[in-house]
Amino acid sequence: MSGAVLPIVWADPVLRLLDQRVLPHELSYLDCQSAEDVASAIHGMAVRGAPAIGIAAAYGLVLAVRRDPQSFDAAFRVLGDSRPTAVNLRWALERMREVWRRRPDAAALLAEAIAIHEEDLAQNLKIGRYGAELLGQGAKVVTHCNTGALATGGHGTALGVIRSAWAAGHLAQVFNTETRPWLQGARLTAWELHEEGIPAKLVADGAVAHLMTREKIDWVIVGADRIAANGDTANKIGTYALAVAARRHGVKFMVAAPSGTFDLSCPSGQAIPIEERTPRELTEFRGEPVAPLGYDAFNPVFDVTPAELIDAIVCERGVISPVSEAAIRKLLS
Ligand code: MRU
Repeated sequence: MSGAVLPIVWADPVLRLLDQRVLPHELSYLDCQSAEDVASAIHGMAVRGAPAIGIAAAYGLVLAVRRDPQSFDAAFRVLGDSRPTAVNLRWALERMREVWRRRPDAAALLAEAIAIHEEDLAQNLKIGRYGAELLGQGAKVVTHCNTGALATGGHGTALGVIRSAWAAGHLAQVFNTETRPWLQGARLTAWELHEEGIPAKLVADGAVAHLMTREKIDWVIVGADRIAANGDTANKIGTYALAVAARRHGVKFMVAAPSGTFDLSCPSGQAIPIEERTPRELTEFRGEPVAPLGYDAFNPVFDVTPAELIDAIVCERGVISPVSEAAIRKLLS
């Protein structure tokens, strides 16, 4: 993302979060003063994207102990419960708890939150380089949801690979999905790509399989909310369908994520909790009814792509390809 529009700003004594629900046509920040404010911003999707919610939650703990040093555990719980699927949230909170156990001091917690924030950017730059090396010259790629600077500490994961590939002259064309129902692709990814001048076109989520029959797509590149020990990957709803279409059409499929996204305690994708959100996100659009009044809906916001459909997982430590539990454990050890 160009310019100085940062999604997460520690503006002592508050945490300022760019309200991603109103982008790209309105730039407004929420000032969070407590862990509860941060948890509500995470649950309400003002801040979203696996690494970004981990970073925000880390700062949320700082806000909590500054108000009341006894509130660490309660704040840990409220932040940890704000969204279930992205393990980066729990990973960041656990990292903060380790620091608090060693030294129960707000300044030490703040230093750790800043470190988590800064390390994420550094990791994404590495992911970008590794991922870009996998793309041939003149690559055409599809990406889903928003995995860019808005979703992370900067640069992005899957969108970071796209940024790095563009900078290296490897990229010809990006197709980015709308991403229903929150339109993270149409509103956020399109904004980031447009700002960078990267050639990109929006496609409806349901148009990607058709697109693959008409264009030679080289890679689908997505982020992740949680990667199980066997490589099964939870990501934004619709990712699995993209992977199925990619395999059908001989398109390679890449997952780009930092090491904090792996959860070796989940043996497979079956163990990953999948967030289901209110049916109103489907039956209404910006508060206006779309479906018949009273109509019910099933609204899972993540799905699991089986490891066998993933050609490469790229993290800051390197590339896992082919994907196997042994290769994952080796890279993370
Ligand atoms: O519901 P969201 O917008 O938080 O979902 C985000 C995604 O699914 C991203 O692909 C994932 O978190 C990786 S972000 C680098």
